[in-house]
Amino acid sequence: METQIIKIDLLHIDPQIIVKAVKLILADKVVAFPTETVYGLGANVFSENAVKKIFEAKNRPADNPLIVHIASREMLTDLVNTIPQNVYALIDKFWPGPLTILFEKSSKVPSIVTAGLSTIAIRYPSHPVAQALIETAKVPIAAPSANASGRPSPTTAEHVYMDLKGRIPLIIDAGPTQVGVESTVIDVNRDPPLILRPGGVTLEQLRVFLPTIQVYEKERNGVDLEQHPPTPGLKYRHYAPKAQVILFEGISEKMGSSIKSFLEKELANNVRLGLIHTQPKIIYPAHIHGNRNLIYYPLGNVDHPEIIAKGIFKALRDLDSQLVEMILVEGISEAAEGLAIMNRLRKAASKIIHIE
Ligand code: TXA
Ligand code: MG
Repeated sequence: METQIIKIDLLHIDPQIIVKAVKLILADKVVAFPTETVYGLGANVFSENAVKKIFEAKNRPADNPLIVHIASREMLTDLVNTIPQNVYALIDKFWPGPLTILFEKSSKVPSIVTAGLSTIAIRYPSHPVAQALIETAKVPIAAPSANASGRPSPTTAEHVYMDLKGRIPLIIDAGPTQVGVESTVIDVNRDPPLILRPGGVTLEQLRVFLPTIQVYEKERNGVDLEQHPPTPGLKYRHYAPKAQVILFEGISEKMGSSIKSFLEKELANNVRLGLIHTQPKIIYPAHIHGNRNLIYYPLGNVDHPEIIAKGIFKALRDLDSQLVEMILVEGISEAAEGLAIMNRLRKAASKIIHIE
């Protein structure tokens, strides 16, 4: 199958491009499209045959459910049985935007979408191209991130092409995405409400509406939950580039010396390394910084996690394409977008070095 990439102008969305994509969607094909978080791989939610193609193209395990995208609140009607009272304020505040909410699934939705679960994850994206696509198709669109399963999520059309070339007919290219990490997935039917996956809407923002909300974390919640993760996506290795990711986290004052000695040892063995730099206080000496085997990758500044979020998946992919064997990352605080960034990095990491 040939994969076509069509560029679209965000300020003047060409309806012909949208119609072309919608024709594919309504003919049970899959289409990659931009959202404000990452690119998605979409199919008509009501067609089991179409949704099956998402799993095939991505090589996604069948027990990992998809997020359903809507472009109006009315679209909820066919997807869910009830709308819990505590959801309205959240919808008012965060939709359209990077917040995915779990609902009780309607029987109109084929079970392949939710991997047989009785809940359905729904979000209303703010990206104008995503909205135009869903509005024109007049059906909600089921869409996971448009990467090959296990790889970093795609924040550009090129990333999608790299992973899914030959496996999907069309990619709509609207340039790099704004948020850079995926949506926050929450379950408000639990008490306390739970963040199943941190993302573009922060814990701090959600606490204003749900003061008791907790973040699901394997490490902290013990064995029981670990064997029965509340979101199937948690079971799988994720976001991983081909290179080994070594994540440094903990006290930032001591992080510099720890990374420097790690680097010195590896560089002495001629290992080709990438270094994702986020801490302005860490300064590397010339023999490290200028080493021809080190690719130094400055990625914003800890004080602006939203900028780091925007570039983190691209950084992993860029360093991979430069054929490094290892990627060292200066970890950041979990405040604001930092929570989502560290969550993705921990999943991508093959080794985490805690600095105490
Ligand atoms: O920003 C995003 O959310 C992007 C864009 C394309 O919208 N989509 C995305 O989808 O990241 P995906 O499939 O890569 O991640 C969906 C996550 C997975 O961890 C999945 O397990 C979880 O949401 N999920 C989906 N339905 C669920 C359900 N019914 N119960 C629990 N978790 C669910
Ligand atoms: Mg994904």
